[in-house]
Amino acid sequence: MNTQTTQRERELEIKLKLLANFGSMVSKETKLDPLLEIIALQVKTILGCDRCSVFIYDAKARSLWAKVAMGLQHTEIRIPFGSGIVGHVAASGMSVNIPNAYSDPRFSRELDKLTGYMTKNILATPLKNINGKIIGVFEAINKYSRHFTEEDEGILKLISSLAASAIENAKLYQRLSESQMETIYRLATTAEYRDQQDTAIHLRHISTYSSLIAASMGLSEEDVENVSYASPLHDIGKVGIADAILLKPGRLTPEEFEEMKKHTLYGAKILANAESQLLQSACRIAASHHEKYNGKGYPNGLRGEEIPLFARIVSVADVFDALCMKRVYKPRWEPEDARKYIVEQSGKDFDPAVVAAFDRIFPEILKAQQSTQDGRKSIIPGISGKMKKMF
Ligand code: C2E
Ligand code: SIN
Ligand code: SIN
Ligand code: FE
Repeated sequence: MNTQTTQRERELEIKLKLLANFGSMVSKETKLDPLLEIIALQVKTILGCDRCSVFIYDAKARSLWAKVAMGLQHTEIRIPFGSGIVGHVAASGMSVNIPNAYSDPRFSRELDKLTGYMTKNILATPLKNINGKIIGVFEAINKYSRHFTEEDEGILKLISSLAASAIENAKLYQRLSESQMETIYRLATTAEYRDQQDTAIHLRHISTYSSLIAASMGLSEEDVENVSYASPLHDIGKVGIADAILLKPGRLTPEEFEEMKKHTLYGAKILANAESQLLQSACRIAASHHEKYNGKGYPNGLRGEEIPLFARIVSVADVFDALCMKRVYKPRWEPEDARKYIVEQSGKDFDPAVVAAFDRIFPEILKAQQSTQDGRKSIIPGISGKMKKMF
């Protein structure tokens, strides 16, 4: 009897520690997808079960979505509000503890069929925000020891209130960075008004290629994100260039080209003394994206590592995409010819490490180029598209 109490006390103590740890972990993560991943992992550990999914309620679509494992991949699934266990919990706002899923009429076997997984027991709890509004559902599946207990239910409710506020914060943060990004793109698009549609595509390409290269070079996730958001501003200084030069339908004279070169200085001036890290990066990129690795670029003839890393990356992305697009002064090149040109210029115009990374992920660059040429719709690169890969 006595030993049983201490055993129980020990278990409780471990759970409390796990809960404290949970609180500090979720409060640090501001991005939705990694946050959901952390929450799911923590809940699995705390409850001692095989799976945990966090379903987020999408009020517009009246459905709940979650990322679930399918082998090594993750895919997004959606469940209509009110249907299945998850939809039922969302609609009723009440927890359910189901010891045998296959004998519960509310349980839908579709998902098991899709994932090849065998659900035995389920504990599902609504996620509510501070105002009591449903924002999602927690679903814990297959308790290692027989089935979920009342105590598990209590713990999951406790976790859900912590998780709900972290999720709300992350959603807010995501909306903010989406709108920040939209502002950046609109600003950048106005800088080159020769052809808005082409400019929008070019900027999107620069962003995608730069972040692919940065990721392939092993830069941190934060750096990859920064270069992806900051790179579209590289030519913002073109707003300072006279139309007669910027829009000239043909080759520039040497004098005109001297004038054109100033777009780097104008860009740096526009973005100078910014508070945000993002705009500081954008400033260095705008200033130095036409510097060359061998020191023969402009405006300052910087060489090698004197050129900020982001600028060395954007330089490759910019030239590759400029070559692949039709300009008033040149026809478009075949992507493979442009790739060869970039590789030839390794150590001359470009940083060899950047070129190596570019060459390594060239198939992905091609794929990205293809996909924007097929669907010429959005100016804004999808954050959600990138996030899909992360989970
Ligand atoms: P952009 O058109 O976006 O080109 C960016 C960079 O891609 C160029 O920087 C250059 O390094 C590379 N690039 C573009 N087309 C070619 C090409 O046919 N061959 C090679 N080898 N590289 C190419 P760059 O030269 O410093 O030019 C900066 C910007 O100045 C260009 O941006 C464009 O807006 C303007 N520009 C340059 N030359 C001309 C020209 O002859 N006529 C007109 N109208 N604009 C020009
Ligand atoms: C910088 O280090 O970013 C400024 C150098 C330049 O103007 O190219
Ligand atoms: C940055 O520009 O903020 C990152 C590093 C670099 O470009 O040197
Ligand atoms: Fe430029």
